[in-house]
Amino acid sequence: MALLNSLTTGERSTIIDIAVMSAELRDAMRHWVTGVTVITTSWRDQTAGLVSNSFTSVSLEPALVSWCIDLRSSSLELWNHTDNFAVHVLDEEQTALAARFAKKGGDKFSGMDWTPGICGSPMLAASPLALECEVWARYQGGDHLIVVGRVIRVTRPESFAPLTNHALYH
Ligand SMILES: Cc1cc2nc3c(=O)[nH]c(=O)nc-3n(C[C@H](O)[C@H](O)[C@H](O)COP(=O)(O)O)c2cc1C
Repeated sequence: MALLNSLTTGERSTIIDIAVMSAELRDAMRHWVTGVTVITTSWRDQTAGLVSNSFTSVSLEPALVSWCIDLRSSSLELWNHTDNFAVHVLDEEQTALAARFAKKGGDKFSGMDWTPGICGSPMLAASPLALECEVWARYQGGDHLIVVGRVIRVTRPESFAPLTNHALYH
């Protein structure tokens, strides 16, 4: 219906329809169950990290994964230049870690136990399931930047119960 309106009415309606579609997409995606990750990077002595549920696998050979970062992120500059990132897949007990890395800006690593990984990314000791990546490509994706990484190392525990976006929201 929103699309039909945008085709049959003037410029002002089109702008309103884009806003409606954005809200509809957001609402629809709330029903799409995903895991929850914390993605970290280090570049020229600066670190950044944020919660992401846009993480997914892309290719097996080569081993590629991707995720998307909002162009309004306060750490966007770093993500535009870094050559590395690490994806920490959170388990069901790690809602506090998710809350820490969902905040905007500030030193999210303060007081945390972490060491530099094989690609230089901060590896969180609290997170046993992690993928270390070198940046493979970056693409513009509307109001997000799509970051693709080649997986260099995977660390995983024997058993794992993932945190989901549904569990986080409800
Ligand atoms: C469950 C969940 C998933 C999120 N997924 C993403 C994502 O895929 N990409 C993104 O840019 N922000 C995502 N966010 C929002 C960011 O985590 C949040 O805006 C971030 O902490 C911004 O950090 P920064 O501005 O310090 O870079 C998500 C938040 C939550 C709670």
